[in-house]
Amino acid sequence: MSLDRRSAIVGAAAVMAKTRAASAQTPPTPSVDQALKFVAVEDLAPLAAKALGPGPYAFLAGGHTDEWTLRENREAFHHFAIEPHYLAGNPPTPDTKTTILGSQLAAPIMTAPVGGQGLFHTRADLATAEGTKAAGHLMIASTASTATLEQIAAASGPKWFQLYLPDDRGVATSLLQRAKAAGYTAVTFTIDTLGAGNSDELQRSGFASQAALQAAAARVTAGAPGAGAPRGTSKRNLGWDDVEFIQKASGLPVLLKGVLSPTLAKQAIQRGCAGVQVSNHGGRQMDGVHATIDVLGPIAEAVAGKGVIVMDSGIRRGSDIFKALALGADCVAIGRAAMYALALGGAQGVRSVHEKLRDELIATMRASGAASIKAIDRSFVSKA
Ligand SMILES: Cc1cc2nc3c(=O)[nH]c(=O)nc-3n(C[C@H](O)[C@H](O)[C@H](O)COP(=O)(O)O)c2cc1C
Repeated sequence: MSLDRRSAIVGAAAVMAKTRAASAQTPPTPSVDQALKFVAVEDLAPLAAKALGPGPYAFLAGGHTDEWTLRENREAFHHFAIEPHYLAGNPPTPDTKTTILGSQLAAPIMTAPVGGQGLFHTRADLATAEGTKAAGHLMIASTASTATLEQIAAASGPKWFQLYLPDDRGVATSLLQRAKAAGYTAVTFTIDTLGAGNSDELQRSGFASQAALQAAAARVTAGAPGAGAPRGTSKRNLGWDDVEFIQKASGLPVLLKGVLSPTLAKQAIQRGCAGVQVSNHGGRQMDGVHATIDVLGPIAEAVAGKGVIVMDSGIRRGSDIFKALALGADCVAIGRAAMYALALGGAQGVRSVHEKLRDELIATMRASGAASIKAIDRSFVSKA
């Protein structure tokens, strides 16, 4: 046997042994439904790690390569300080209600689109949708969902549909028309996913995420409307013609998700987009790009109130939400925070995290003298 062939076999055996070890360490997918008591959202991460095991947790929590952007997403909130407006004479309870593209929300908080939720809870996106609805917030369903878009729509209150554009326009049209028929009121078109976002840790874990996800989807969607409908392969060479196509094919307001520059934000608005989602995919797609809170202010100036601005990536505190609103966001979206809660408490857990963030936002608003969401402007924040 040649040396090359022998080392290939030894290598393959090592990978198989690692895969067996990984599945032995993976606990059954959580199925609990319980309210969560905790002091800080970040406290949930190590508990979720324990509940999920190394493979699924790496899928959820990991960032791209060296994870600089992942860390910056948290660190960069410290680049901004809150400027309280004392003696403002406000009523004791600030009002967090807001309306985003016609959807009335109890607070400017959405659940970000997250694919693969079947790895985190047996009821996957359905529990997330129910928890988000119970909190009075908005659900963004992912194209890479475990449940079908029709199932998620039925479980949701206000809802948008996130699109990974299929390269086949027939498949894309049918997906968008199903989303519209199911009651989604906007399309969030993700533009930053041009490669696989697997973290190094997920690769090291040897966890077979795709096989686990297929099994979860088969279980969650059995007999459901939309089960087995094609989602196609994601188009990689995206351009403005695709944005125009999505606007026409859906007939819905379209927001671009993954915007990190004022120039792109301005172009989006000029080309008829309803808004942008300032996002770096939670540091999962490309390491080395800016933290979103750092680019939010200039993007808001470029949009100049002509479109909606959603901001995500790194939101773990009500004060993070406050800073994002002060820098010009209309709303924030939470990814991992909601998913840690999904793993630990299902629908009730997701509700707990949404309400905790809202409570912290209320506390920040009260302490800083902001009576309503509209009142939060640039005067409440300065460079730290
Ligand atoms: C496990 C996981 C799966 C994700 N799947 C998608 C997806 O299918 N579509 C998408 O546009 N963004 C996806 N995202 C990115 C989120 O929408 C969001 O941008 C990010 O989670 C925000 O950062 P945060 O997790 O720090 O809140 C995913 C994020 C995570 C953690």
